[in-house]
Amino acid sequence: MAEDFKKYEYDVIVIGAGGAGLRAAIEAARSGAKTAIITKSLLGKAHTVMAEGGCAAALQNADPRDGWKVHFHDTMKGSKWLADWQMAEYHAKEAPDRVRELEQWGAVFDRTKKDLINQRNFGGHTFPRLAHVGDATGLEIIRTLQERGIHEGIDIFMEYTVRHLLKEGDRVTGCVAYTRVDGDFHAFSAKSIVLATGGITRVWSVCSGSWEYTGDGHALALWAGAELRDMEFVQFHPTGMVWPPSVRGILVTEGVRGEGGRLTNSDGQRFMFDYVPEMFAGDHAETIEESDQWVEEVVSGKLATVRRPPELLTRDVVAKAINSEVKAGRGSPHGGAFLDISHRGEEAILKKLPSMHHQFKELAGVDISKEPMEVGPTAHYVMGGVMVDAETQESSVPGLFACGEVASGLHGANRLGGNSLSDLIVFGKRAGEFAAKRAKDLAQPVIDVTQVNQAIEVMLEPFNNEGGENPGLIYDELRDMMQAKVGIIRTKAELDEAINDLKDFESRRLSAYPGSSRKYNSGWHQALDLKNMVDVSYAATLAAVTREESRGGHTRDDFPVPDDDYWGNTLNIIYMENGEIKIRQEPIAEMRADLKDAIKEVKAIIAERAAEAGGNE
Ligand code: FUM
Repeated sequence: MAEDFKKYEYDVIVIGAGGAGLRAAIEAARSGAKTAIITKSLLGKAHTVMAEGGCAAALQNADPRDGWKVHFHDTMKGSKWLADWQMAEYHAKEAPDRVRELEQWGAVFDRTKKDLINQRNFGGHTFPRLAHVGDATGLEIIRTLQERGIHEGIDIFMEYTVRHLLKEGDRVTGCVAYTRVDGDFHAFSAKSIVLATGGITRVWSVCSGSWEYTGDGHALALWAGAELRDMEFVQFHPTGMVWPPSVRGILVTEGVRGEGGRLTNSDGQRFMFDYVPEMFAGDHAETIEESDQWVEEVVSGKLATVRRPPELLTRDVVAKAINSEVKAGRGSPHGGAFLDISHRGEEAILKKLPSMHHQFKELAGVDISKEPMEVGPTAHYVMGGVMVDAETQESSVPGLFACGEVASGLHGANRLGGNSLSDLIVFGKRAGEFAAKRAKDLAQPVIDVTQVNQAIEVMLEPFNNEGGENPGLIYDELRDMMQAKVGIIRTKAELDEAINDLKDFESRRLSAYPGSSRKYNSGWHQALDLKNMVDVSYAATLAAVTREESRGGHTRDDFPVPDDDYWGNTLNIIYMENGEIKIRQEPIAEMRADLKDAIKEVKAIIAERAAEAGGNE
């Protein structure tokens, strides 16, 4: 007998309530669209709060030589030149206005002595560029957007998990969800849908994300016929907590290194100096000089020089360096490195890094104003996601938009810290604006009851598997497998094994049994999540085994150097055909001539800065 479900009608539905989802919903509602947010979790609990150290925008408060061109250059270079240059241009140009807008809406950014928004240093940014609120920037942005959203009349459906996108022909016309609390079913008619579900990093056992991060939006898009790109590029943030085991993976903000934190190994050596030449060989740079405070690199055929503390090299470089130190037997007692900020003194630490101080005191019994932290890499962000049009954020499926981490393009092979918060406000706004525009002249779609019933049937399948495996066990084993075989350093042999393992996980998840109740049943939620987790893991692994080179967040032990001739210009595109996940390659579009000129201009600015510093920076 068909199950009951409730029906709703909206112009725009946003799935996800992190920064990107909130910003998209605000813009759609402001454009006059009847808008709802559906979130699997509670408001305020998004991964956005894990972007602690700041939001990158060329406000020029810390250095007047900053500007959109420098931010554009840094983002492209950080991405190892794989980013969608059109998105990088919009992002660099629009981020300052979006930050100022947040301030007008009540975000309380830290100030300089001149009462300007304070900007801190982060890896890969030429100038201090991160607008911040101590070390809780993402939280403040979420708070601000939530308050603003309340005044826009957005409906919120909390603890509803979307499992299916409804379609009519090629277009998306709505979605089907269940409530986590009581297992009831709900069908939504929508003229446009915006995916803002965040990332996939819950598929690794050491990660900075919480239970929501199971790749829901990536999978919904793939199942609906959209394409994904860059799925092999996963950002292992260099500094997560490593001890005690219950908190392993929780983020230690890059803000600690931005405020002067130093990394050392068990010999007390500031080891990052040893990794600059080796690691940068693949980025066409070499170290020419170093002091105990900074390194100077020559970038791209001696066109420019940059000085920075080695701890502020890009995240891919620092994460791999810590990994190598641990492998060489020079790790900290619990398998990480030491990160010390105590030289800044208690007063500065309590002012600039209060959450970190509290986090270590409460969770690890460590006073970071007196002793070093133990830190190690944690899966933090996936650069890959739904392929979208740079201007509108619409996917190849009409009516389906994506923004924030579930979308792709801005970060290429590696994201610069701080560029996620700016990404979600810039492209969240664009997604909401264009989703509302799309909806404007469309009639309200009729809910297709047959499709809804089929979706409900699939959601109920696990209850038919009496005697089957506990989904929680499959869930844990899948995450351990991905950690072991599709981690920071990859090999063909292990990736091939992972592909086979994932086929096995697929058949195991099909017979998982969560017990019989739909009420408060986290086992059932996990049994359903496993479907997306297996599919997004497969997409990431397939892309990783196909890209035979090392670049940014993808390192192959068997192909350790970048292959600029082919992979430097080529994207892996993941799509679904007849229920099977497939891969093809596509060349990247050549950069517009004026943007190439902008890059050259910036290299000259960087060289000038280094010359002025005269070795004393
Ligand atoms: O380290 C951090 O505060 C994280 C920032 C980000 O991922 O952008």
